[in-house]
Amino acid sequence: TKTLHELARESGRYFGAAVDNPELADTEFADLLGTEFGQTTPGNGMKWYATEPQRGVFDFTAGDEIVNYARANGLKVRGHTLLWHSQLPDWLTSGTWAADELRSILKNHITKVVKHYRGKVFAWDVANEIMNEDGTYRENIFYKTLGPGYIADALRWARAADPKVKLYLNDYNVEALGPKSDAYYTLIKQLKKERVPIDGFGLQGHLALQYGFPGGLKENLQRFADLGVDVAITELDIRMILPSDETKLAEQADWYGQVTDACLAVRRCVGITLWGYTDRHSWIPAVFPGEGAALPWDENLRHKPAYDAIRNAL
Ligand code: XIL
Repeated sequence: TKTLHELARESGRYFGAAVDNPELADTEFADLLGTEFGQTTPGNGMKWYATEPQRGVFDFTAGDEIVNYARANGLKVRGHTLLWHSQLPDWLTSGTWAADELRSILKNHITKVVKHYRGKVFAWDVANEIMNEDGTYRENIFYKTLGPGYIADALRWARAADPKVKLYLNDYNVEALGPKSDAYYTLIKQLKKERVPIDGFGLQGHLALQYGFPGGLKENLQRFADLGVDVAITELDIRMILPSDETKLAEQADWYGQVTDACLAVRRCVGITLWGYTDRHSWIPAVFPGEGAALPWDENLRHKPAYDAIRNAL
């Protein structure tokens, strides 16, 4: 039987799953990741706290471990992420920075990390989660000190460091048509008009049954594609309030099928990445207490109904 990635590849897409470094020690987990999937994303290993733990001191150990694992298993890698308000190193968040200094810190970080992974990752989430729910800019450390121009600067610095890698903006709660996705639509349109390098929009896809399926997902993907950028589902998981039961697992399966359908309906939707693939290793229970069971494989690495729904959609 074909793997999810083999099925996705038949339409020119990838099917992937994220991995956090410690999980590679779980050999049963790592073996299945390496056979079923064609793409991976480091769950944490390329974030700023990991790659530049002290100012100007870079550590690529965690990211390299995943790149090496991926190469050995024939998976391609999305780089995640150059710039985010979360999981920044203490030296950066505890400092007070003049604009010129912060700009040079950001430029140096992007340049060094992108150059290190040149030819090893095919895409970068250059900026992660830069919008609020109402479509205004998130007041992260970069926005507060540099203003909204930091986004175009970051994209240009990334392009200068690697002319070939695909440059993405990435966020959650942007799957539905609404103020947050509208804000990205307006921003990407403007960046295109100004000839700022932007190749893709990543929709994380952290969905929850209790909030309803994102309305207009397919139309939303298509409108970004029509701007001339790729789109990707970059961090898909579909959580539920525990305990899980047959009804919830069936609804979850239906949603996984719908997300897959939406991507396949849009020519420029290049692939789908699950945020992990098994309930054995998932960020959800720690961050959303009382919720979980978000992935298509259960704790014992057995297929859930969601797995069959994805297969049938691919
Ligand atoms: C999560 C990781 O999976 C966790 O291990 C970590 O503790 C917190 O971050 N959106 C993102 C990802 O872009 O980087 C986040 O990953 C999940 C939400």
